[in-house]
Amino acid sequence: EEEEYEKLYLIQDYAKRFFIYQLHSTKEGQNNGLNYFIQKRGFDINIIQKFELGYAPISWNLLTINALKQGFKIRDIKESGVTVFRKSNHFFDCFRKRVMFPIHSLSGKVIGFGGRSLDSRSFTTTKYINSSESKIFQKSKILYGLFQAKKNILKENFCYLVEGYTDVISLHQSGIKNVVSSSGISLTVAQILLIKKFTKNIILFYDGDRSGIKASLRGINMMLEQEINLRILFISNGEDPDLISKKYSFSQFRDFVAKNSYNFVSFKQKIYEKIHKDDPIKKSFLVKNILNSISKISNVIQKELYLQEASKVLNIRQKVLISELKKINKKNV
Ligand code: CTP
Ligand code: MN
Ligand code: MN
Ligand code: MN
Ligand code: MN
Repeated sequence: EEEEYEKLYLIQDYAKRFFIYQLHSTKEGQNNGLNYFIQKRGFDINIIQKFELGYAPISWNLLTINALKQGFKIRDIKESGVTVFRKSNHFFDCFRKRVMFPIHSLSGKVIGFGGRSLDSRSFTTTKYINSSESKIFQKSKILYGLFQAKKNILKENFCYLVEGYTDVISLHQSGIKNVVSSSGISLTVAQILLIKKFTKNIILFYDGDRSGIKASLRGINMMLEQEINLRILFISNGEDPDLISKKYSFSQFRDFVAKNSYNFVSFKQKIYEKIHKDDPIKKSFLVKNILNSISKISNVIQKELYLQEASKVLNIRQKVLISELKKINKKNV
């Protein structure tokens, strides 16, 4: 078993070094990959090296051919997910003409990759593809950037939770190093528990578009159930942490976060306001929705404080909220 895992780590590490070489030392990689990172994304060389970014060439099978030459066995390459096989001898590389983001384990070993297509407006290629699941790579259980962030999360005793690879990297470049990504919007309990090993305090900083907001709302109850102390960023549509961090200096960024982060009660109220203005029926849904979140809180004092907050924000007497909350609790048992 151990040895099986070791082979997979070795192949991932080989692929990582292959992608790094392609990025820095080939014309194709420099023109397409390095140019993309530096010109289009504003990444500097230090950050490119720190995150071990790379480039997968256009070739159909250069990585696989090289891995075979290195002596890696077809069976192990298959298992590692850097190659796709059709029948036993017909194969091609999974990642082609993409900039590469290696995904690290907690101890810094590469366990998989995310690859981004170079043309953002193409409808024919998927923007991001990820390594297929393997014994060492389960996307739902890992957090991108945790290896690079863990020391700083402990030091700051909180962390930013963002959607994407580029969000993590840009924040690091701006000096904000306590940040991890759920690699998309489908946050899992396993990921929350992983953060909890380092801190109980999370600032949720998803994209300002519909899917980002939807994912934030979904994440709220999950995190409350795990007793996370949560604040949520409310940002405009079209913004994400990557873009925002580039607009501000380190201290301006801190101010931005302070000014635009909310507890979950106010966050929900802000979204309601934005969409429904002042519709009593819709507001009654909002009240139930907020109470449903409050019902997830097990700490009695916190529950009481959030009820006070809700009463203030919603402008509804606390007595009314408490009796509604009792109904919700009854339904849940
Ligand atoms: N993601 C993914 N597969 C997709 C789309 C997204 O795995 N088909 C994950 C990636 O980790 C990505 C994150 O979800 O970084 C957030 O997606 P999105 O907001 O669309 O991308 P950005 O990270 O903002 O990337 P970019 O700035 O390059 O558009
Ligand atoms: Mn997004
Ligand atoms: Mn995004
Ligand atoms: Mn985007
Ligand atoms: Mn982005």
